[in-house]
Parts: sequence; structure tokens; C-alpha cells
Amino acid sequence: MTAATMTARPGGPLNGHVRLPGDKSISHRALILGALASGVTEIDGLLEGEDVLATGRAMQAFGAHVERLGEGRWRVEGQGGFKAPTETIDCGNAGTGVRLIMGAAAGFDFEATFTGDASLRKRPMGRVLDPLKAMGAHYQAMEGGRLPLTLKGGGLKGIQYRLPMASAQVKSAVLLAGLQAHGEVVVIEPEATRDHTERMFRAFGVTVDVEDTADGRVIRMAGGQPLSGTKVFVPGDPSSAAFPLVAALVTPGSSVTIEGMLLNPLRAGLVDSLIEMGGDITISNEREAGGEPVGDVTARHSALKGIVVPPERAPAMIDEYPALAVAAAFATGETVMRGVGEMRVKESDRIALMAQGLEACGVDVEEEPEGFIVRGNGQPPRGGVTIETEGDHRIAMSFLVMGLAAQSAVTVDEPGMIATSFPTFGAMMRGLGASLEEA
Ligand code: S3P
Repeated sequence: MTAATMTARPGGPLNGHVRLPGDKSISHRALILGALASGVTEIDGLLEGEDVLATGRAMQAFGAHVERLGEGRWRVEGQGGFKAPTETIDCGNAGTGVRLIMGAAAGFDFEATFTGDASLRKRPMGRVLDPLKAMGAHYQAMEGGRLPLTLKGGGLKGIQYRLPMASAQVKSAVLLAGLQAHGEVVVIEPEATRDHTERMFRAFGVTVDVEDTADGRVIRMAGGQPLSGTKVFVPGDPSSAAFPLVAALVTPGSSVTIEGMLLNPLRAGLVDSLIEMGGDITISNEREAGGEPVGDVTARHSALKGIVVPPERAPAMIDEYPALAVAAAFATGETVMRGVGEMRVKESDRIALMAQGLEACGVDVEEEPEGFIVRGNGQPPRGGVTIETEGDHRIAMSFLVMGLAAQSAVTVDEPGMIATSFPTFGAMMRGLGASLEEA
């Protein structure tokens, strides 16, 4: 039976060394590229969270053979392209899964129907459907370009597309469609976003050029390139690391080391921000693994101060603002987070839910259309409430971290959703000394 609630109680320090589950963004891409490729792809460190498992099932529906070899070790045998699916593709809670898979599927001459859970069915898909349509795909969607929708691809032409919002998902959907397009595909990003697709393309033998210009980052590839299976190593997910790192910073006496964390600069905004807040964070053993920079990151309890987070940092930490806002609630002074309107179209409206939840915990918070400001007084917030997470895993984990160091316990509803991205969260945090109870 899935637990109805999870409660975090303030207690002793958090201490220890942990290895995190694999990065979610890289895990989705490894399965999708493996399925598009000819030959075998072996993945080590795959995140076995619900979102990624849904992508694995989708790849099977498109004709790939996907097999689990052991913990985090998966084998994908691609067919050199997708086959027409005979079932609806259900991506569960995963925005990244559905948007990237639609991009990949748009290259093929068949119809595929996509759906997802109640949260995913509310999220905008027009952002990927617009460029895919401009490349020649057709679709039928619910009002406002929502799921469920049916996509009919094939016969795509090249495109030059300037991203209307900073979104690696949209960029990746266009590049994945580009693999089957006739002509050149160019994506221009006014603000650089996570570049795992570009990096992994190269590992699968696809040529892609990236150039920083006065107009933004320009990503250029020839359409119609084949992929060949390869080995993929998935580093620890910095978006999951956010929770134990912030927990260590706000809980007196703590020292936690995350081993093998992805340190891609386009994902490292949270660590930069926490260090600016005065967080005692050290990075050691920096190395490269699977074409990505990784290292061991240690966070120790620290007296934090408020900062203005530069809005241009948003793409490098868009999923980490809920955790940062919790750190800000323990800090002294104002933490200003602006230019984060994209938070409103994640698994929930994360600006609204963070503002409501922080206020319920006794924190001074101000909501803006595209941002929010948290004013801390250097003391642990009151806590002592139950937070409605609207099924958003990162909202749930953020408020559980708050409860570990607040004056009173914090409870969250729907803790089962944590398994979408971080199925071992409870066990790992308890291993560090956290008091987390399910009921
Ligand atoms: C992701 C990109 C981001 C992020 C999501 C994962 C990806 O979304 O929020 O969790 O893997 O490309 P957007 O690209 O829509 O900002």
C-alpha cells in the first residue's frame, strides 16, 4: 500500500557519504537514443524512477528491446529507428519523457497516441508541437495542445528554430526530430540550457555543432543521421542531490558528501547559489565520466544569508528553486528569485505551491508573476503543518527537508510521487540520520 503522508521531524545532525540515483535527464536520453540506434546500448547508473521506467516501456512500444541486467544496469537493443506502436504511449508524470519521445517519434511515418497522468495532461505541449509541425509533422490534441494527443510524423524537413522559452526539452525534441529530417536543423537558444542531448548525440556518432554567438547559443546538425549503440554512464542527479545538500546546510552539526554528482555547468546553478549564500560546500575528486564532468560534493551546516539569484542562472537550476527556497527560509535576509516563470508549468505551479507552503510554515514570502522572494530571519521556520504537494515530487522533498530542521515537524501528502525521480529518497535520508515517517 502506498503511504498517505510522510512526516519529517526535527532531530539530530545528518552525516555520511552517499551515492545518488542516476540523473533523470540523462537517463531518459540514454533510453531514447539507445532505441533509435542500431545495435546494443549498455547503460550503467540508469535512474530507476517511475518517469524513466515509463520511457523504457515507451521505447519497447516503439520496437526496441529493453532489458534490466542489474541495479541501474540496462541493455537496449535498438532497431535503427522507431516502429509503429500498437498501444497508447503513457508517459506517466514525465514531461521530459513525453516531449523528447514526441520529438523522436515525429521523424517516422506512423501515428502514435500519447498520454500521461493528471498532472502531465495539464502541461503545455504546444511548445514542442509548434516546431514539430513547422518541420512537417501533424497532430490532433486536446484543447490548448494538451495530452492525450495523436502525432503523425514522417517526411520532415529541416528548420531554423529560435526557442521562445529557455527549454532543453523543446531544444531536444527538435534535435531528435532532426535525426530523420531532410535538410539542416538549427536551434538557437537565447539562454543556454542543459546540453545532455548534444553531448550524447556525439557518443552515438551524430555530428552536431555548437557555437556561442552574440545572438545566443546556436546548435546545428545535418538532418538524417544514423546512431550506433554505445555504452552510457549516468552520473548522480544534481536535482536529487539538492535535497540532502540543503538538508545538511540547514541542520546543525551536519556534514554530507554526495559522491559522483553531475557537475555539468548548465546544471550547477544551485551549488553556485548556495555557495554565494555562505554555504560551506566543497567539491573534490573532479573528473569526467561518460562525457560529463562529475565530482564529490560535501555540504556542512552553515549560517546562510539571502542573495539575489541572477535571473540568467535560471536554466541551470530551474528544478532546484524549491530546494533553494527552503535554504532561503533558514537564511538571514532576502533571497530574490526572479525570471523563473517556467516554474509555473512544471509538475505543479511551483511558485504558487512554494509560496503557500512556506507561508504555512511561518516564512515571510512574496509571490510575483515570474518569481518569488523569501525573507528569512536566520532562525528555523515554525513548521508544524501538512503541505499539499499536488502530486509534485520536488515540492514534497523540499518541505520534508524543511521539516528536518524546522521548529516542528512538517508533513506532506502524496509521498508516493517522490518515486518518479528519487525512489530511494526516504531510505537515503534515513541512512544519513533523518527522521522520516510514513503513515
Ligand atoms: C529537462 C529540462 C527542464 C527540466 C526538466 C528536465 C530535460 O525542463 O525542468 O526536469 O531533461 O531536458 P524544460 O526544458 O522544459 O525547462
